Amino acid sequence: MRILLKNALLLCDVRSEPKVSDLLVEDGKVAGIGNFTEATAEEIHDMSEKLVMPGFVNAHTHAAMTLMRGLAEDLRLKEWLTERVFPIEERLSEEDVYYGTMLAQLEMARRGIVAYADMYFHCGAVARAALDFGMKVLITRGLVDVDSDRGRLKQNVDYYERWNGKDGLVKVGFGPHAPYSCSRAYIDEIAKTALKLNAPVMIHLYETADEKYELKNLLSTSLKDCKVLFAHCVHVKDEDVSLLARENFFVVHNPTSNLKLGSGIAPVQKMIEKGVQVCLGTDGAASNNTLDVWHEMRLAALLQKVSDPRNISIQQALSMAIEQGAKAVGLTSGKIEVGADADLIVVDLKKPWYVPRDRIKNHIVHSGNSLDVFATMIKGRWVYYDGEYPTIDAEYVFEKCEEAIGRLTGTTD
Ligand code: NI
Repeated sequence: MRILLKNALLLCDVRSEPKVSDLLVEDGKVAGIGNFTEATAEEIHDMSEKLVMPGFVNAHTHAAMTLMRGLAEDLRLKEWLTERVFPIEERLSEEDVYYGTMLAQLEMARRGIVAYADMYFHCGAVARAALDFGMKVLITRGLVDVDSDRGRLKQNVDYYERWNGKDGLVKVGFGPHAPYSCSRAYIDEIAKTALKLNAPVMIHLYETADEKYELKNLLSTSLKDCKVLFAHCVHVKDEDVSLLARENFFVVHNPTSNLKLGSGIAPVQKMIEKGVQVCLGTDGAASNNTLDVWHEMRLAALLQKVSDPRNISIQQALSMAIEQGAKAVGLTSGKIEVGADADLIVVDLKKPWYVPRDRIKNHIVHSGNSLDVFATMIKGRWVYYDGEYPTIDAEYVFEKCEEAIGRLTGTTD
């Protein structure tokens, strides 16, 4: 199947400038950039007055928590987690996780996200939801160090064997929850397993000021040799920042979730200056409450500008949201180039906030928003197009989610 996008304003990567061009997609990949006649394709889209650019990457979330959106407001992390989130999570079925994840994907596709990194449980349901919808996901099974949890590392390995690499959409990594919920020995065991499989690891790090442990002790385990996505890093000390500046480490900044739970503001500018690779995440919809990397990008830039407006350039903001996220999650190139998977979004520029049109990248960061996304394509397949979700019955997903949350909160049987 050949799909031709005609007359698009094309931004191939975050470093280049957009130019008017056609784009040819074939068998899930970018097949050509330039001028093509309509005879070259079976499906043709006129993209005049539309920007085609690489899609956003959500490098940290708990997708199925969409079921808990709006359920626990105005609480600190500890109460939020123990009083509201855990009691519901204990009762989530595999089917609940499937539909909660699907709901998250509907939202993410609508907001221009093409890939995400998830930490949750019932991960088979997450994999099935990603494959059914056609979205790219790095799955990690959340692991905590209690006796009842010991079988879960084995379960995480089973998920890897069953789903890793499936359809070019799914990757499986390992998810030790945090240094305060996993012992060093357990983290070492997880890291050794991940290294053997060449799989990445995702872990929460220094989310709140209460967390007392030493990063250097954590890095005396095999974790230092793994590819690691460290979510949050709000309360990192100066010496931690230099420890995080490694090619195999990524910091996932979740500004909305950190603000909403009163956790603080991560020193992103300092980390970037010291060579740390920073990307963006939304965290779960129970603490955000939207899954919107475009919004996180703008907020991340503004939060660092509060002390110096020279902090977080347009380039750096876009790089965090697209390029670094793509590197961290490892499923998409973050670029539109011949031979790469066609993971892209189409932005409708026919809005007052995109005029004048000659500074589009600036407008994307500081003026536009994710609802300007007209279409989202992943691996050459439209998963969102002008109000429609071609791969899934969205109304049915909404119904199933309402049903699940009614049952889980006891408002319906
Ligand atoms: Ni999280």
